[in-house]
Amino acid sequence: MELRRAFSHVLDVLASARDEAQARPALSMDEALQQRLANPEPLPEQPGALPSVLKEAERLIFSGYCNVSHPRYFGYISPRPLMAPLVGDLLASGLNQVPGAWRAGAGATVIEAETLVWLADFVGFPRHPGRLPHGIFVGGGTLANASALKLARDTLLGRQVQQQGLTGLGQRPTFYMSREGHFSVWRGLDLLGLGRESLRLVDVDATGRIDMRALRETLARDVAQGMRPTCVVGVAGSSATGAVDPLAELAAVAREHRMWFHVDGASGAVLARHPRCEHLFTGLDQADSLTIDPCKWLFLPFGIGALLVKDGRELFQSFSASGHYWEDRGEVDLFQMSPYGTRQWRSLGLWMTLKHLGRQGYLELLGRTLEAARHLARRVSRHEELELLHEPSLPICSFRLRAPTREVREALNAAVQRALITEGHSYISLLDWRGDTWLRVAINNYTTAPHHLDELIDAVLLHRRDYAP
Ligand SMILES: Cc1ncc(COP(=O)(O)O)c(C=O)c1O
Repeated sequence: MELRRAFSHVLDVLASARDEAQARPALSMDEALQQRLANPEPLPEQPGALPSVLKEAERLIFSGYCNVSHPRYFGYISPRPLMAPLVGDLLASGLNQVPGAWRAGAGATVIEAETLVWLADFVGFPRHPGRLPHGIFVGGGTLANASALKLARDTLLGRQVQQQGLTGLGQRPTFYMSREGHFSVWRGLDLLGLGRESLRLVDVDATGRIDMRALRETLARDVAQGMRPTCVVGVAGSSATGAVDPLAELAAVAREHRMWFHVDGASGAVLARHPRCEHLFTGLDQADSLTIDPCKWLFLPFGIGALLVKDGRELFQSFSASGHYWEDRGEVDLFQMSPYGTRQWRSLGLWMTLKHLGRQGYLELLGRTLEAARHLARRVSRHEELELLHEPSLPICSFRLRAPTREVREALNAAVQRALITEGHSYISLLDWRGDTWLRVAINNYTTAPHHLDELIDAVLLHRRDYAP
């Protein structure tokens, strides 16, 4: 009974946080939380009633609350989650099924494999037929990228690396990505013992896409110095501006140098078949591996990333393991295909959402976010006090208030951002682009409509008038 009441209360909390999102600030950070962080409460010795525990959790959460359901929350790529995946998450956790081994959840394994097929289909990523799923769900883009780099390492440097490590390698392996690529890639190289310096960060053009000439020059230099070019990472939606690299050209360079071609499409790849931007993603289907974070523009709650590969056997060869307690019956055991043993079953939420919305429903939501970003760009371009960084290709748009010098511009735009946060109107992040400060607006919320962007512009201009250096 107590549990039923708790669930029903949580549903009320969710409903009001989502339906009345504008009753709270776009971002709140109560100063008292710093105190609590420095002085944690002691471990409770005695039992507490669930309703009061729940009440305290709510109080803490809402005192430092990132209001992702607010239509003017424009930070990073943190979405307002859809409801269907929440239902899936609850079912998966409550039944405690894991798609890790056939006997730990054959139903879960089938659902996971099917979700991978649908995700590949949604973004246009082909696969070889085979018994093993052509990918895996992990906790996020970071681990998906690190797993892809391991595939590149194991497949191209020889399987003995898995046994002997890097010590016996004659040539130093090198990796290539644009400067706009995500830090998870060098972190992954660090984790794999390949070293951050093995990553060549290649210059980008004015819109943030990799400069192909610079890439070719870097490769030629490395080859001349006896390095072993191993993998090129294409960025399909940079975190800063949503830039998408010329993927077909990268695929050609990868082929020429016999490198692995990984695409980090953590944020952007889900737009690969949207009619408004599919032209940007030509060549995505030529990748050897692809990272997608459904907890970005597929609007799932955090903690789900996907790695897609053409052939599931590659994952199996790279990750298979056994223990004397494990009875291997030759079944499809997904723990053999990822860095995890046990993991949380997150694909049920995506499976349910894909069934619930269908491809068309998802494309419609994505279309709204694209339209909102373009609306903002149009508004900015029409206003003489504002300057657009560049036309948005994905649902991210950056702009700034004009000012005569860099120092004034930086102070002015930062002050306006602070004012918007303080009054709870909106949350936008600051972007450092080539040493200059911009206001970065990511449309993460499928309920954000053009009028919310009009309200943002009005508020920015209003605070501009208040600003006195
Ligand atoms: C392009 C890109 N790659 C990788 C990541 C890392 O993903 P996660 O934070 O889910 O580990 C991000 C996260 O924002 C990203 O934008």
